Amino acid sequence: MAGAVTTGWGSALPDKVVTNDDLSARLDTSDAWIVERTGIRERRIGGTTSELAVAAGARALEHAGRTGADVDVLVLATTTPDALVPGTSATVQEGLGIAGGAFDVNAACSGFVYALVVAHGLVATGARRVLVVGSETLSHITDWDDRTLAVLVGDGAGAVLLEATDGPGDLLAWDLGADGSLRHLLKCDHGGFLFMNGREIFRHAVRAVVESSTQALGRAGLKAKDVDLFVPHQANARIISAAASRLGIPEERCVITIDRYGNTSSASIPLALVDAADAGRLRPGDLVLLSGFGGGMTWASALLRWGG
Ligand code: ACO
Repeated sequence: MAGAVTTGWGSALPDKVVTNDDLSARLDTSDAWIVERTGIRERRIGGTTSELAVAAGARALEHAGRTGADVDVLVLATTTPDALVPGTSATVQEGLGIAGGAFDVNAACSGFVYALVVAHGLVATGARRVLVVGSETLSHITDWDDRTLAVLVGDGAGAVLLEATDGPGDLLAWDLGADGSLRHLLKCDHGGFLFMNGREIFRHAVRAVVESSTQALGRAGLKAKDVDLFVPHQANARIISAAASRLGIPEERCVITIDRYGNTSSASIPLALVDAADAGRLRPGDLVLLSGFGGGMTWASALLRWGG
């Protein structure tokens, strides 16, 4: 079975920056509350899920020196599809000129890691190149008069290209989980707005990230102290520091983007990964731990050896 390595990455963000002060001007909230309780300072708002996905995907392909014609499968993780039918991946497939198949994955904020694991499986069973994109426009399902959610969300997209390699590839281990009995904690009915029980999710989130990361590490015979870079889902800076501290991963090994992008659901992990890669924080051979949680509830971790 072939392994896969990450050969390209790219992200896309709307131009419009919305600061905490912008939100405080129209909602009963404040920059101080938002920064202290969430770590968010600003977020980007705008565009559609397919537009952001095409832009991020194009950058990932360009980075790898490939075009859509080289891609066997596109896997798009999103919770905010442009429409119920067809899948947003259809629009992205056309936009990028992808030669092969295309489908959507919805596992809420865990979606990108789910999609990444599926993509590795596709390469193991014969695909040569798989483009994995996480793209979201949570702003479209947010009630902008509801301060509990309006301060949290942001829009954006991140993408990676996986290519088959003769070696084992960069995915060392993974853990995917779900507990549908908790699906009432975060939901959005057809045509409605996002609803969230923030306190309850917070409680489950830290445990889910710690347990799922520990599972993935254990399957690879590794420990949290071996992790060079921790790329967690960016839902709340306090969730990230609580999980990192329980795992024993020092702060300087965590990637934080929530201050600039807010919670971008399944785009948050690829956005953070691309940020780290572009900042030179990823060296060949580094052990990279991706871990997320979200509505469902779902959770997902992937342990990568960067460069394979
Ligand atoms: N501005 C000012 N005050 C606020 C705001 C706000 N935006 N929102 C809530 N408050 C108030 C509350 O009304 C409450 O007031 P009270 O004490 O008088 O009742 C007080 O602040 C504290 O509220 P809590 O809900 O206890 O605040 P908490 O510290 O739990 O922070 C938060 C809330 C940020 C939502 C946190 O619970 C959290 O991050 N939870 C996890 C969210 C998450 O991970 N979601 C995952 C997926 S989200 C998605 O997919 C889009």
